[in-house]
Formats: sequence, structure tokens, C-alpha cells
Amino acid sequence: MKKVQDYYFKKAKKEKYPARSVYKLEEAQNKFHFMKKNNRVLDLGCHPGSWAIYAAKIVGSQGLVVGVDLHKSKNVAFANSAGIEFLKADIFSPDLVDVITGKPQFAVVVSDLAPKTTGHKFSDHLKSIELSRQALYIASLVLSSGGHFYCKVFQGEDFPVFVSEVRNLFKKVKVVKPKSSRTESREVFVLGLEYKDNS
Ligand SMILES: C[S@@+](CC[C@H](N)C(=O)[O-])C[C@H]1O[C@@H](n2cnc3c(N)ncnc32)[C@H](O)[C@@H]1O
Repeated sequence: MKKVQDYYFKKAKKEKYPARSVYKLEEAQNKFHFMKKNNRVLDLGCHPGSWAIYAAKIVGSQGLVVGVDLHKSKNVAFANSAGIEFLKADIFSPDLVDVITGKPQFAVVVSDLAPKTTGHKFSDHLKSIELSRQALYIASLVLSSGGHFYCKVFQGEDFPVFVSEVRNLFKKVKVVKPKSSRTESREVFVLGLEYKDNS
């Protein structure tokens, strides 16, 4: 397994991404194509910025990526990529929700939010579910009809309930375990396709 991790670490370095987590988004995108040219993408838990950089390349110069994290990521600009707006904020902050809902709607919300892990599986799972639920709530406020949601979750007791909550809001739901995610890790990704927007 270490070999696999070293492989993605080196690949990220070579491709100039600040974190190897980028491949957990790339693999899903290559399979499901949920981000498209000119899209607006909201990236929750974006630091140090790999997913945002990758999404900016996919949506291209006419798209936009807004990244939110407790930590400020470094601004980057690549040719033919969308601009990235990094916001330093807590996703639970009502002010942040006001700022994001005040913007035009997004076609895609991605979340790689992760709590500071303690090693205690159950409490790490509960914290992850709490973050994922807030990501889903924000997605429900900002996604345009037919939009998509891709969200990391640490599996555990409440995972099936969370998946059913995603299923209530999206026409199709997939649970994805990318090859670049360690097999021993309890993280998986829930992909909600085609937001129903019942409002
Ligand atoms: C795995 S990292 C994200 C890596 C990122 N996707 C990348 O590819 O560069 C998870 C992030 O979630 C952020 N996070 C955790 N709780 C948060 C919260 N309440 N509000 C905003 N960000 C949070 C952490 O600060 C951390 O940077």
C-alpha cells in the first residue's frame, strides 16, 4: 500500500498539485464527467487547493471555482483555467452561508471536508457526518437544478442515513471508492447526480 501512496505523492508533485488528494476527484471526474466547461464549482474544505486547481482546469477560463476552508490557500493562476476565489471561513458560519448564497448558483459542489482525526473511529465518523450534512445543506442552497454533488464521508453507523438524505435531493446516487484512496481508510465519496431542486 505504501507503494501506491508514494506513487500518488510523486505524481502530484510532478503535476504541480499541492496534495495527492487531487486524484480522488480526478478518478471520479474521469468516470462520471460531472464537471463541465464553463461551470461554476464550489469546493468546500479546499485547502491546500488541489481540487480547486483541478476543477479550474476542467471548467476552463469561462468557468469559476470558489474554495472555502478554515485555512487560506495560495492564489494560483494557470493558462486556460478558471479563476479561483479562495475564502477563509468555517462552513458552519452563517456569514459564510450568506456570502455564498448571495452569488449566482453553482453547477457543482464538491466537498473534501475532513475533521481533525482523533483515531477514535466512531467520533471521527460522527464529525465527518456533521461536516458532510452541512456540505449537503449548502449544496441544497446554491446548486442549480440538475447540478451535482461529490462529497467525502468517513463510513460508520450513520453513513446509510446520510446516503438516503443525498438520495432525497438527487436523481442518482453513487458511492465511490477511488483507487487513490487507501483501502484501509474508511473514507468513501458520495456522488449525487442531477439535483432535484424541489423549491
Ligand atoms: C483533506 S483536506 C482538503 C484537501 C483539498 N481537497 C485538496 O485537494 O487540496 C480537508 C480540509 O477540510 C477543512 N475543514 C475541516 N473543517 C472545516 C470547517 N468547519 N470549515 C471549513 N473547512 C474545514 C480542513 O481545514 C482541511 O483543509
